[in-house]
Amino acid sequence: MLKLNNISFYYGKIHALKSINLEIPKGSIVSLLGANGAGKTTTLKVISRLIQPSEGTYELNGDSMLKTSSSNLVKKGVIHCPENRRVFPLLSVEENLNIGAYLRKDKQKVKEDYEKICIMFPRLKERLKQVAGTLSGGEQQMLAIGRSLMGAPKLLLLDEPSLGLAPNIIQEIFRTIKKINVEGTAILLVEQNAHLSLEISDYSYILENGRVALQGTPEELRGNKDISKLYLGV
Ligand SMILES: Nc1ncnc2c1ncn2[C@@H]1O[C@H](COP(=O)(O)OP(=O)(O)O)[C@@H](O)[C@H]1O
Ligand SMILES: [Mg+2]
Repeated sequence: MLKLNNISFYYGKIHALKSINLEIPKGSIVSLLGANGAGKTTTLKVISRLIQPSEGTYELNGDSMLKTSSSNLVKKGVIHCPENRRVFPLLSVEENLNIGAYLRKDKQKVKEDYEKICIMFPRLKERLKQVAGTLSGGEQQMLAIGRSLMGAPKLLLLDEPSLGLAPNIIQEIFRTIKKINVEGTAILLVEQNAHLSLEISDYSYILENGRVALQGTPEELRGNKDISKLYLGV
């Protein structure tokens, strides 16, 4: 459904993305792995149209997106769940969720999605009136994901959802990501936790210094000894 070809991006003189090629087939989970500063977040920003690449093409379902606004992209179902779970700390859980649906006109469907998200995240349901700033880190991450789901994503862009969370919460987040995918949403998962990401991914790209250093199915990547050593810590 999504295709980046030879995408380059500069922050001033810093060449942050160097000719990136990346594909996300409909209904799949694709992960984008790599160390801090590799260019993962920058790639997501290009996809959600927060920044304009200096070179390359970007297609969604065969149409070029390089002149589409970020809000139009949201309407097309490409939803970006940003780094550091940016919830609105002074608003309640319920208000945060509703903000995720602000561009939608299908109010009946919005209500149904709201109910579904409450079932998916029982902890949020128990805290609908609580202000988001007082939630635990894991709960805030669930809220950030729940808010993104309120936008009815066809493609969900997740930026490091496991960052700074306890192992049992990370497991729960990954199970939820898999469930969202099984229910029909394609996912681009940006992660430093390569192990867990490969477990749920159909295909992975490893970024290094703004370049795709390696790519393949989880089996292909795990089968390569150098890769395992460098990126998977085994
Ligand atoms: N707003 C910015 N201004 C200047 N340089 C930036 C900015 N954001 C990111 N960079 C640089 O671009 C490179 C890629 O960053 P980023 O995409 O955030 O990496 P990652 O998400 O993989 O950690 C890094 O070298 C980073 O320092
Ligand atoms: Mg990042």
